[in-house]
Amino acid sequence: MEKYVVVGGNRLSGTVRISGGKNSVLAILPACLLSKGVCTIHEVPRLRDVFVMKEVLECLGAKVSFTGNTMSVDATMVDTVEVPDRLTRMMRASNLVMGPLLSRFKNVKVAYPGGCSIGSRPMDQHLRGMKDLGAEVTEKYGFIEAKAVKLKGAEICLDFPSVGATENIIMAASLAEGVTILRNAAREPEITDLQNFLNNMGANIKGAGTDVIKISGVKELGGTEHIINPDRIEAGTFIVMTAITNGDIMITNVIPEHLEAVIAKLREAGVDIIEDEKGIRVKRKRRIKGVDLKTMPFPGFPTDMQAQIMVLMSLAEGTSVITETIFENRFKHVDELRRMGANIKLEGRVAIIKGIKNLSGAYVEISDLRAGAALVAAGLAAEGATVLENINHIERGYENFEQKLRNLGAQIIRVNGLKSSFKK
Ligand code: UD1
Repeated sequence: MEKYVVVGGNRLSGTVRISGGKNSVLAILPACLLSKGVCTIHEVPRLRDVFVMKEVLECLGAKVSFTGNTMSVDATMVDTVEVPDRLTRMMRASNLVMGPLLSRFKNVKVAYPGGCSIGSRPMDQHLRGMKDLGAEVTEKYGFIEAKAVKLKGAEICLDFPSVGATENIIMAASLAEGVTILRNAAREPEITDLQNFLNNMGANIKGAGTDVIKISGVKELGGTEHIINPDRIEAGTFIVMTAITNGDIMITNVIPEHLEAVIAKLREAGVDIIEDEKGIRVKRKRRIKGVDLKTMPFPGFPTDMQAQIMVLMSLAEGTSVITETIFENRFKHVDELRRMGANIKLEGRVAIIKGIKNLSGAYVEISDLRAGAALVAAGLAAEGATVLENINHIERGYENFEQKLRNLGAQIIRVNGLKSSFKK
């Protein structure tokens, strides 16, 4: 099994360009299933999750080509509405084909996504949206099947602003008859990216970015061309890594407004973040101070940045309190950080972190994508070498991660076993 070896102590410096947003692409690719035409999408990151979604589309009968960072999808000939169990299990986001397939074919069948390492992640909000639009939903033998004679616009109010449920419902309502009003919708920038993509295909959707989205159903959708927004979590991860290593970097291809809560918190902690027309400059000159935070739906502090900022807080002056409100089990990185010397106490969904002066390199295991990024960050700051196991989690969501870090001066290599000698 491949591992990363990270030797800490180098300050990050230079320029990094952020890739297209993973979570935008994972919603926009399924949206192509609504179209009888070719959709060409630029800035698609070459990530494991994106390749899984490509396979999902191909299994359904779409023609897909992926050259460099441009993907073309022609879903005209899609002829099945059932996603193989194997693919649903590989990636939870494959359930985002439900909305578009139901909308276009009035029928869809997917395996029930399993739990995942960060929490149980039920589908109730997705399914109740589809039922409100007139679908009959059955959950049997580990599969979810939704069928309708026709879908009709409805008033839907989510119990919680779920990102995936908002996306599935927008797509399901796009070809429904009449108007759908979706209240308590998620406001994440990925929803706005999806709305823009669908409107360019001919949909009539307004309100993304607010908690009320109005979808006026149209008869059909055609092909289009689209550029994916930059990945706000990748950008946030590089900001934290720079702060942690006392570095000074320029981040390009970034939309600072998508990172307001992260930037505000890091400034409060003492990181210098300067926004200009070229991007974001991040510098750190003094020791970071501990800050308290709670993860919240957008525009609040993102749960996908919780693990990374916890590493920074582990090295901050004073005590910080981090409360995870989105996922029930998203502290798997804590035990690994403790191995590296961090002083973190858990009380349910609250982590109390007492800052220490130095982390020390250790052998650690990655449990999920963002925990992986956090442990690499910890390795960059630690004394000595850190060996990270299960790096496949990182490959799900960070494009050219090691290369980008090496370009910034980090000492990180991929090894098979532990025999490879360490080269910068
Ligand atoms: C998306 C992101 C993920 C991010 C998360 C929260 C993608 C591919 N993934 O995941 O990176 O961490 O948003 O910002 O875009 N819930 C229910 N019932 C439902 C749906 C969700 O109870 O029907 C709960 C979940 O268990 C979880 C919370 O709502 O506790 C947030 O989930 P949701 O916003 O749906 O996240 P995802 O769309 O799965």
